[in-house]
Amino acid sequence: MCGIIGYIGNKPAMPILIESLKKLEYRGYDSAGITVADDSELQTYKTAGRISNLESVLPEAITGTIGIGHTRWATHGVPSTDNSHPHLSGDVAVVHNGIIENYLQLREQLEADGYKFLSDTDTETIAHLLHSNLYGGVDGNEKTTDLLSALRRTIQQLEGSYAVATVCGSEPDVMVAVRKDSPLVVGLGDGEFYASSDVTAFLNHTKDVVFIDDMELVRITPQRIDYFNMDGNPIKKDITTIEWDIESAEKAGYEHFMLKEIHEQATSIQDTFSGKIFEFGGAVELKELNLTREDIRNIHRLEIVACGTSWNAGLLGKYLFERLAGIHTDVSTSSEFRYGDPVMKNDVLTIAITQSGETADTLAAIRSSKSYGCNSIAITNVVGSTITRETNNVIYTRSGPEIGVAATKTFTAQLIILYLLALHFGRANGHIRADNAKDLLVALKRIPGQIQKILNHQEHIRECAIQFAQSHDYFFIGRHLNYPIALESALKLKEISYIHAEGYAAGELKHGPLALIDVNTPVVAIATKGNTYDKILSNIKEVKARDAMVIAVADEDDTEIEKYVDIVLRVPPTHELLSPILSAVALQLLAYYTALERGCSIDKPRNLAKSVTVE
Ligand code: AGP
Repeated sequence: MCGIIGYIGNKPAMPILIESLKKLEYRGYDSAGITVADDSELQTYKTAGRISNLESVLPEAITGTIGIGHTRWATHGVPSTDNSHPHLSGDVAVVHNGIIENYLQLREQLEADGYKFLSDTDTETIAHLLHSNLYGGVDGNEKTTDLLSALRRTIQQLEGSYAVATVCGSEPDVMVAVRKDSPLVVGLGDGEFYASSDVTAFLNHTKDVVFIDDMELVRITPQRIDYFNMDGNPIKKDITTIEWDIESAEKAGYEHFMLKEIHEQATSIQDTFSGKIFEFGGAVELKELNLTREDIRNIHRLEIVACGTSWNAGLLGKYLFERLAGIHTDVSTSSEFRYGDPVMKNDVLTIAITQSGETADTLAAIRSSKSYGCNSIAITNVVGSTITRETNNVIYTRSGPEIGVAATKTFTAQLIILYLLALHFGRANGHIRADNAKDLLVALKRIPGQIQKILNHQEHIRECAIQFAQSHDYFFIGRHLNYPIALESALKLKEISYIHAEGYAAGELKHGPLALIDVNTPVVAIATKGNTYDKILSNIKEVKARDAMVIAVADEDDTEIEKYVDIVLRVPPTHELLSPILSAVALQLLAYYTALERGCSIDKPRNLAKSVTVE
């Protein structure tokens, strides 16, 4: 998984490429490189490590106004200068995000044709293949076709996923790009154009963008931009104006994106539900759904597919759909679903949850569900992302860009959409009465203010995090609705602080993990009021009897809990069904301050990347 950028215009390309790569670092950050075309001469600089490493090897200025750049998250070959992009073949330079599955076979064939490989990457095959298609072979000097046609021919030989941008010395004022199963978006500036994996790369230059679809090519010169299908015929594309501004993609004074994004939840959640709630009639309006009341009544089962944090949101969704809409719901991790033998008929509605909209496993899962004739809904944060073209219905979480690798505001936004969807279904099929729906919606509207209250009193959470920051293991326990939050909070802690953490359904502790509990194992018990409150108190007593230090997340007005635990993290009382949102925010802060105390790389944890576009 990587980030690509291409620039073509009237300004020096190098500083623009570097600036864009910094915005794309969340997609991969183990190596980076650029190629700038200065007339027919291509100048390439690349290195392992972060963009700052690349900057240190760049000359003061390069005059070319056309270039491509790349920031990498290794899939084939270790992070190294040779494996960094752009990859070159003669005067052809290529950057690529994705995976070429038949690269070994292509490599063999290209080596037999005389091409020399300098890297272990799959991408280098694209560069040589493109060169071969452009010049007729390794020794060819004269073009046999143009760059666009050569790229078109090249991708016909590729299997796998790719967003590719390329420049070549023999067409020094042209850039060509193409995509299949990896994101590619073009920015239309004033006398300049951009092509990238993500709009954040060029958002401070232009907000007018064109999303490139699978098997579409784009040819750009400083004067014009043209779009083509795989047959080489011109096609028309719509321009979208992005509403995010660049400030919302930057840290706004916080030490980390993650902390900024945790704080944004008080307002981002409002954006998520705005225009959808009509609390006095107990109604939810989801205009974006193409489902009639009849369609909803005919849903026999829901199948949720997702990964990681989105899967945890889906698990809470199961409880909501079953409670509020009476619809049997299964939740699968996409990577398992895609290779399973699910029993799917066309009365199953599949819901794909993915903040990025680009997670390869979730895309594969939704395609598999489609093959059974199932209707589908995507819940995603990224407008125009691939999942939006793979599903029949799309609901956007409207959280704004999330840069921290650890999902925070997109998680709570996914939960909000799941509450709304469950209520919508429950009202449509008559499972929930209007007055009960109304109570929930009234309480939902108070959630942003209650999140703000947690944020205003976070010092206590920070002190708690510091106290246990050197622990080797952590347990998070919860029951029923709080179980997915226990899983999510454990995931959050482990991914950014590198402390081993387990999320458990509290009633399961006695079936094995209790053996691990001792005085050195902090246990976080999510103990907000609800119908399993007494049960979690019993579980707290079980772990206290094994000398564990217990941190409870509990309602502000709960005076009972402090008798049984060591530390209480308070959250405002709310409707029982909604308390998981507030507990999640408190525990995001616990994870954040633990990682801060341990000096971890919070926004870019080791071994992880923001959107997992490879299997
Ligand atoms: C979240 O903190 C993780 N970084 C990760 O589990 C993530 O939720 C997962 O990769 C799924 O991503 P998606 O929502 O973009 O599909």
